[in-house]
Amino acid sequence: MATTQELDREKEELKEANRKLREEKEKFEEANHFKMHLLSLTSHQVKTPLGIIRGYATLLREGFYGEVNDRQKEVLSKLEFATEDVVTLVDNLIDLRKVEEGRIRYQMARCDFAKLARQAAEEMGHMAMSKGLNLSFAGPSDKVMIYGDEQKLRHVVQNLIDNAIKYTERGSIAVKVEDKGNAVTLSVADSGLGIPHRVIPLLFEEYVRDERLKQIRGSGMGLHIAKIFVEAHQGKIWAESRGEGKGSTFYVALPKEA
Ligand SMILES: Nc1ncnc2c1ncn2[C@@H]1O[C@H](COP(=O)(O)OP(=O)(O)OP(=O)(O)O)[C@@H](O)[C@H]1O
Ligand SMILES: [Mg+2]
Repeated sequence: MATTQELDREKEELKEANRKLREEKEKFEEANHFKMHLLSLTSHQVKTPLGIIRGYATLLREGFYGEVNDRQKEVLSKLEFATEDVVTLVDNLIDLRKVEEGRIRYQMARCDFAKLARQAAEEMGHMAMSKGLNLSFAGPSDKVMIYGDEQKLRHVVQNLIDNAIKYTERGSIAVKVEDKGNAVTLSVADSGLGIPHRVIPLLFEEYVRDERLKQIRGSGMGLHIAKIFVEAHQGKIWAESRGEGKGSTFYVALPKEA
């Protein structure tokens, strides 16, 4: 049997261990807080000049400062894509850290998903066009009301279209919204690179990228974030592909407003 003295000593040791743990936790939280602060500071400082670079590249490409030939246009649109990629990277990093810290807030409201997807497709049409790809949109003319965070869902649609453009060299991208009664589905089909079957289930995990893509910039965060956002809306996200070189289709299904 332990004596009172021994028990007291154990109690003291436990207290001491607890105190150290608390100290470590505080230090960790402080470091984490500093990291987040640095990240958001850097993001603003990086995004502003990048916006300027992209803006001038667009003006140049569109001939605002004089005529440019096709080769020059090609180079300028590469510049636009590259700057866009860095902006996306910073945005994704911030979103992921927020998710990790449980700081993501969803601003839920009634919204028309068909309209939201149509707008995203229209906004990204020029990106597709400057790569010589045809981007089409098909959807119901009636509203398809859901209950969700419009900004986050727009981010999901933009991400899927961004990937379709990025991983397609030739052909077309078809964005489609379908009203299925209780649910609404979005599909983004491309005629691009395709995905080997064994890779498909892994794509939605953090930092997973197809090893064929070393030449194409990306961080492997886009689909992971999209999955988090979709699942927060009780939705599903998945991909299908007939194999390498045969294009891919990404799907999102969301419950309609009850
Ligand atoms: N439309 C597509 N066609 C072929 N492969 C795709 C397509 N969309 C995604 N992938 C594959 O899934 C991987 C993960 O996509 P994800 O969007 O998460 O990351 P990323 O595009 O590499 O980088 P980023 O974080 O900048 O979006 C990609 O690297 C690519 O291998
Ligand atoms: Mg991506």
